[in-house]
Amino acid sequence: MSLVKIIEFKSLGDDRGHLVALEGNRDVPFDIKRVYYITDTMKGVARGFHAHKNLIQVAICIRGRCKFIMDDGVQKEEVLMNNQTKGILIDKMQWHEMHDFSHDCILLVLASDNYEESDYIRNYDDFIKLAK
Ligand code: TYD
Repeated sequence: MSLVKIIEFKSLGDDRGHLVALEGNRDVPFDIKRVYYITDTMKGVARGFHAHKNLIQVAICIRGRCKFIMDDGVQKEEVLMNNQTKGILIDKMQWHEMHDFSHDCILLVLASDNYEESDYIRNYDDFIKLAK
């Protein structure tokens, strides 16, 4: 089974342009408690490199593109995100990295909880131990 879960959002766009609406517990599988976005990422920069003990997130590339590497401690998968109607589910205990940001990339992230540093696993060896 693929560890990457892509959620398809309905496009409400028409001849005036695009519109995508995201509601907690409808379009994403949790109550949205926090939203953040990543923009203007410098060339060659990669981000992420952590997993969460409990947090669940959905990331949507609403402009441009970037590459996700997802890793559950058993398998690793790469996925190119470049579509505002697709979200990638970052489940708890999924090591994730984001690479190859286009300069215009706007990565929007919806999160199930407030920012809490103690929920992060930032060391890959610790992650592998905990994932087992
Ligand atoms: P960091 O975890 O390095 O981001 P990424 O996952 O993209 O590599 O976060 C950068 C800084 O921002 C770090 O000091 C933590 C802080 N931060 C918050 O205060 N709130 C948030 O919601 C997030 C995602 C980060």
